[in-house]
Amino acid sequence: MHYSPDHHDHGLPYDPLKSLVVPRPIGWISTVDERGGVNLAPYSFFNLIADRPAYVMFASDGRKDSLRNVEVTGEFVCNLVTEELYEQMMATAAPFPHGQSEPERLGIDMRPSIRVNPPTVAAARASLECVHYRTVNLPGANDDQLSPYQVVIGRVVSVSVDDAALDPKGYVRPDLLRPVARLGYQHYAIIENTFAHPLPKAPDHPEATS
Ligand SMILES: Cc1cc2nc3c(=O)[nH]c(=O)nc-3n(C[C@H](O)[C@H](O)[C@H](O)COP(=O)(O)O)c2cc1C
Repeated sequence: MHYSPDHHDHGLPYDPLKSLVVPRPIGWISTVDERGGVNLAPYSFFNLIADRPAYVMFASDGRKDSLRNVEVTGEFVCNLVTEELYEQMMATAAPFPHGQSEPERLGIDMRPSIRVNPPTVAAARASLECVHYRTVNLPGANDDQLSPYQVVIGRVVSVSVDDAALDPKGYVRPDLLRPVARLGYQHYAIIENTFAHPLPKAPDHPEATS
């Protein structure tokens, strides 16, 4: 089957789009508001988009508190959601009224970050501290409209990772970290079944000069 994503003419009970780009990592975004109140919420329209230097993005469906706080204070932290933090992460997705702190309401311990003002989830086994680069408001389905989605791009200025997630040679072991990712509908995955494969070598090219 095929369908137009603008017209949703798939005839299925639910739009399959988000089940087809999987798994999506989850950025558990901590920010502070102008009064210093701490906000924490998950975003799975989230990814690392460059590493030299490092940039991440998350996309907000409307003007949610995380986006608002990033634009007011210019900083955010992406906390990695691992298996043991999954329930707490889900709880922070509830629509808390603006100004109410999810970590405070839910009893989630935070610790000071290294380079930015928003705190880090104390139990997070990895975190990326970020400075706001820019927000991109995507065009909507009709050219005269804007999408409800705004893409927040941040420059990563500090990376933390739990030493216990590294093997003796210094490689991060996904089976030790066990990150949680989002699949389609209401499904999630814990990444544990992984394999290694070297990059292919450049194919021989008769005209290649060296
Ligand atoms: C796993 C997961 C991923 C989510 N991803 C997004 C997302 O990418 N964009 C978005 O706008 N909302 C997303 N949500 C919903 C927000 O987390 C939710 O609206 C939250 O209340 C926003 O909080 P805030 O207003 O404090 O930023 C997600 C929820 C869950 C459970």
